[in-house]
Amino acid sequence: MPLIDVQAERCSPDIVLPSYEDVSAPTDAVGVRPLLPVVGANLRVPLVTGQETTYANLDYAASAPCLEEVAAHLTEVLPYYASVHRGAGYASQVSTSLYENARAQVAAFVGARADDVVVFTRNTTDALNLLAHCVPTDSAGERAGDVLFLDIEHHANLLPWQRGRHRYVVAGTTQRATLVALRAELAARPAALLAITGASNVTGEVLPLTEIVALAHEAGARVVLDAAQLAPHRRIDLAATGVDYVAFSGHKVYAPLGSGVLVGRRDWPDEAPAYLPGGGAVREVTLTGTTWASAPQRHEGGTPNVLGAAALARACQVLADLPEGALEEHEEALRNRLASRLDALAGVWLHQIWRDSPSAIGVVAFTVEGYEPGFVAAYLSAEHGIGVRDGKFCAHPLLSRLGAQAGTLRASVGVGTTLRDVDRLADAVERLLSVGPRWEYARVEGRWTPVGDPRTAPAWAGATLGSAGGASPCESGTTR
Ligand SMILES: Cc1ncc(COP(=O)(O)O)c(C=O)c1O
Repeated sequence: MPLIDVQAERCSPDIVLPSYEDVSAPTDAVGVRPLLPVVGANLRVPLVTGQETTYANLDYAASAPCLEEVAAHLTEVLPYYASVHRGAGYASQVSTSLYENARAQVAAFVGARADDVVVFTRNTTDALNLLAHCVPTDSAGERAGDVLFLDIEHHANLLPWQRGRHRYVVAGTTQRATLVALRAELAARPAALLAITGASNVTGEVLPLTEIVALAHEAGARVVLDAAQLAPHRRIDLAATGVDYVAFSGHKVYAPLGSGVLVGRRDWPDEAPAYLPGGGAVREVTLTGTTWASAPQRHEGGTPNVLGAAALARACQVLADLPEGALEEHEEALRNRLASRLDALAGVWLHQIWRDSPSAIGVVAFTVEGYEPGFVAAYLSAEHGIGVRDGKFCAHPLLSRLGAQAGTLRASVGVGTTLRDVDRLADAVERLLSVGPRWEYARVEGRWTPVGDPRTAPAWAGATLGSAGGASPCESGTTR
């Protein structure tokens, strides 16, 4: 995509923006109201014009806001916060119980089998690296079998596998063809593990899990499900689907406290060397030898993140307590509106991996003709108070195959999103296409930024907007 040199007039401060603050008459229509209350739902954000608006958060797939119920739970447990597994004091014992209880709640959330193990990690990336560390090895210390993955994966479900024996399969243009290719590859040469995402973090398309597990198991391979995107949107059931391992992150399931989890079959984690050698991972240490604890403690060296685990577990419970189908219904209404409104705009292109995907979570990737994704994202934020993601979404091979080497935009929704948020995005894109931006933008440290951006961060955030760090090196659409 050519570099766009936008020469736009700065807007006068008295421009009247459409008001999105008025809540329309109560209605029961799906998507009109948030499905669950989230912290920051009425966040006021500054615009470049000097006005303020309510933030439209359409970036749930990156990090979802905290559920109000999770925040209330944290306030409840914080006074009891103390060391886990390490103290006889009352607060320490309560914290230990909270932590171990969280394990059981997370196990229930993913339908774990009775003998599955739950290891708390920092996030999905950490959980998948942990599993990569646990894949059995031969006498030379090499992986005893290959790990197989598709070319559409997030880097977190690709890079850990590249550190040992691995193969990849290029996904076909249909899911059907992709399954055929996977089956052929597994039949041609056995693999130890098939690593597969539950839903694409770029396009939201959901993969046919039951069929994938069946063909992997037929070929003697275990399956790890990268559920970073699936877990916030769909029920997961290890026992029913036969998935061997699942990894996901707290911050994507409305629990932003730096926690993640790996759940699954106990034998590999029990036999692997400790992932994070240190306090808590051992039974006994002498200066000449160590007896390691079994999983999960074996891989949870150091002081556990009890608040992260408690937040993650409570978020799982809240999602699990939603009436059957409510989450899917809410998000489908939002996604359909988002996709159909964007698709109706001449000059907007939606991206999809497969022609035959039966369903997708609330994630839509798109590009706007004539504008770089980073420019559109900056415009949406600066002039409309809308947060979306742009870039390559840590999925470079997929973006290449979509023909979007310069990246795309991604809008994503969740339990706190309403149709009004989605309409604001579509209206703003429509306006960009019809009248263009009102402000002038320039590239600063690889990111499109409003020229002379008058917005500031709150004092406690300690940085001028956009100044701290610029773009992530792997996300900027163009080389810097
Ligand atoms: C599909 C998928 N897998 C893995 C990850 C990595 O998650 P985290 O950054 O929480 O480790 C992400 C993050 O966006 C993702 O979307």
